[in-house]
Amino acid sequence: MKPLLSPSSSSVLGGTSLSCFYTLLAFILFVVILYSEDFLCIFGQGELVLTQPPISQTEKKQETTSLPFAIGRTEEGCDVFSGRWVRDELARPHYEESECPYIQPQLTCQEHGRPDKEYQKWRWQPHGCDLPSFNATLMLEALRGKRMMFVGDSLNRGQYVSMVCLLHRILPENAKSMETSQDQSLVVFRAKDYNATIEFNWAPFLLESNSDNAIVHRVAERMVKKGSINKHGKNWKGVDVLVFNTYLWWMTGQKMKFLSGSFDDEKKDIEELTTEEAYRVAMKSMLKWVRKNMDRNKTRVFFTSMSPLHIKSTEWGGEPGGNCYNETTLIEDPNYWGSESKSIMQVIGEEFSKSKYPITFLNITQLSNYRKDAHTSIYKKQWTPLTPEQLANPVSYADCVHWCLPGLQDTWNELLFAKLFYP
Ligand SMILES: *[C@@H]1O[C@H](CO)[C@@H](O)[C@H](O)[C@H]1NC(C)=O
Ligand SMILES: *[C@@H]1O[C@H](CO)[C@@H](O)[C@H](O)[C@H]1NC(C)=O
Ligand SMILES: *[C@@H]1O[C@H](CO)[C@@H](O)[C@H](O)[C@H]1NC(C)=O
Ligand SMILES: *[C@@H]1O[C@H](CO)[C@@H](O)[C@H](O)[C@H]1NC(C)=O
Ligand SMILES: *[C@@H]1O[C@H](CO)[C@@H](O)[C@H](O)[C@H]1NC(C)=O
Repeated sequence: MKPLLSPSSSSVLGGTSLSCFYTLLAFILFVVILYSEDFLCIFGQGELVLTQPPISQTEKKQETTSLPFAIGRTEEGCDVFSGRWVRDELARPHYEESECPYIQPQLTCQEHGRPDKEYQKWRWQPHGCDLPSFNATLMLEALRGKRMMFVGDSLNRGQYVSMVCLLHRILPENAKSMETSQDQSLVVFRAKDYNATIEFNWAPFLLESNSDNAIVHRVAERMVKKGSINKHGKNWKGVDVLVFNTYLWWMTGQKMKFLSGSFDDEKKDIEELTTEEAYRVAMKSMLKWVRKNMDRNKTRVFFTSMSPLHIKSTEWGGEPGGNCYNETTLIEDPNYWGSESKSIMQVIGEEFSKSKYPITFLNITQLSNYRKDAHTSIYKKQWTPLTPEQLANPVSYADCVHWCLPGLQDTWNELLFAKLFYP
């Protein structure tokens, strides 16, 4: 397997112009220094080819209509993740940014001065069929007396908030509440009349790690603990619909450190794994946890694939030195694939196809890849004041990882809705 490259690696510099490199470096510094929400490093260009059949095919082997929550099925042979974006001025966005008080200030782009709204007006159109319309009443009825939980990193938190925004509108003010635990690792939205909760659990690696503090998680060297799924898993017990993600945090560009003892041990017992090996360990642990703790006749488990970044405009044929900043149009090449790791996609495919519990895969990577326009860019709350140098060069502090709400992540939830009710 091709190792992921570190930013200082000469092979990154080799094929890249110096200005590109500085933009990249600036971005990394920005993320490391300023962005306390999340953290990432540079990706290698995994060129491995998917040898595993797409998961939608494996899933089809199962009796999809007998899955819990199913009320129908998607047309035979229609892969809802394969399609195109179409303008929809009438029915998009699903809600206005100002109508949803739950969006964190890192995602409220209009409030932070984004001049255009075009990114809100796209609808995903699968090639083989139409998506069912998102129906908040149906969703809440299905969740009556139940719990839905999103587990993962800040990208999953974005999808979580989008789901809350899509649902809360039909509830009167006194029939809903939103609570965040003191350490912010658990967030619970409650629809009182339905006795239903939509929850979020911060667990960027799913396994226990030294980045588990939902507020302060910038660490010099990320480390994950072996066999530790129950650390977070105890929060997931009894949940009826689980939605996992994990990706960005594994992409350190270096080998991943796996700890065998405790984080407090003075002399730590550490093993180093490649990104793919480490990610596979996490997938295996998660699937084992699901098999042991979830009842396939009553519950559903979803897994959201890698959320793509747009940090290097040359990837889509733009001018060197740019990123998602000032991007308002979509990438039109249907085969466009940025820097997301195909080898990680392959690991997901391999491990899920072995799972006895039917996992529903939300394959959002390709469709989100086209959306260089949909990131928060510079239109978000900044954690520390920007320097005059930064202000003079907006590319240097644009966030090309997270997504404005309303926006792209509402589509991820439309796909979740489609797969929950019409597998
Ligand atoms: C995800 O969707 C893309 C686009 O339809 C497809 O090319 C790819 O094979 C899918 N991946 C998996 C693992 O199903
Ligand atoms: C939404 O779902 C509810 C409950 O199943 C149903 O009564 C209603 O007709 C649906 N609305 C639309 C627009 O389909
Ligand atoms: C409310 O939902 C919880 C599950 O979230 C369930 O355990 C409890 O029995 C429900 N209460 C009522 C009154 O239905
Ligand atoms: C799940 O449902 C199947 C078929 O209806 C049944 O054979 C099986 O015993 C059930 N499993 C559990 C754990 O209830
Ligand atoms: C933003 O893009 C527009 C058109 O794509 C261009 O005219 C303008 O100069 C760009 N602005 C900046 C600050 O890069």
